[in-house]
Amino acid sequence: MNQQPAKPAYKRILLKISGEALMGDLGFGISPDVMTFLANELKEIVDLGVQVALVVGAGNIFRGEGLARGGMDRVTGDQMGMLATVINALAIQDAIERIGLEARVQSAIRINEVCEDFIRRKAIRHLEKGRVLVFAAGTGNPFFTTDSAAALRAIEISADLMLKATKVDGIYTADPKKDPTATRYDELTYDEALDRRLGVMDQTALVLCRDHKVRLRVYDMDRPKALHRIITGDTSLGTLVRV
Ligand code: GTP
Repeated sequence: MNQQPAKPAYKRILLKISGEALMGDLGFGISPDVMTFLANELKEIVDLGVQVALVVGAGNIFRGEGLARGGMDRVTGDQMGMLATVINALAIQDAIERIGLEARVQSAIRINEVCEDFIRRKAIRHLEKGRVLVFAAGTGNPFFTTDSAAALRAIEISADLMLKATKVDGIYTADPKKDPTATRYDELTYDEALDRRLGVMDQTALVLCRDHKVRLRVYDMDRPKALHRIITGDTSLGTLVRV
């Protein structure tokens, strides 16, 4: 008997991927293996008809805050970080197109020779046409994290679900690498995440999500098929953060 293809539980999602996630075991830069893995994970959900937007970080190349700690002007450091997200976005676009999907990059800072500008209405058009959309350059402003950019874009495109891909399978009561008694939350409210300072995302991003009633799932990106499972309604993976 032929199995019916799984039905997606969400129409449009926004996935936040950290820069660190792209470097795999390399310690710096972009791992070709991670890119291929990510592209294939995305293809599985695009093939279900899900509209997919991504926001990518830059910790694999530069982190504005870290540069500032080393003495660099914070705004300059953040601008370098934003440019680094464009590098990551182009790599993701390339990996996605190599497996036969369409992709577009939109940047929050103008860099027209390499990609489009962020234009909300055009972004939504790309999504409706089934193109994977990669939002680059954060919010375009210093002092904002790419988590805040992800929250902002999720709200702007009216995503049904925001996903944060991490190296851990959800949010824990404490850092599970340091505290063996730490336990994972299945569900959490934004107020609880804010009060307990759980470090899921920075406070700006959490407040934005809370005030605009974004549903967020934090999950382990390395787990094969996790994205497909979540999108088809499996609620056992990671932690759901809600209002
Ligand atoms: P539709 O209008 O829906 O057909 O979308 P489209 O993206 O295919 O059409 P468009 O003519 O806008 O873009 C064609 C190609 O040029 C796509 O690969 C875009 O990503 C790219 N493109 C569009 N605007 C810019 C830009 O400002 N800078 C750069 N570098 N590329 C752009």
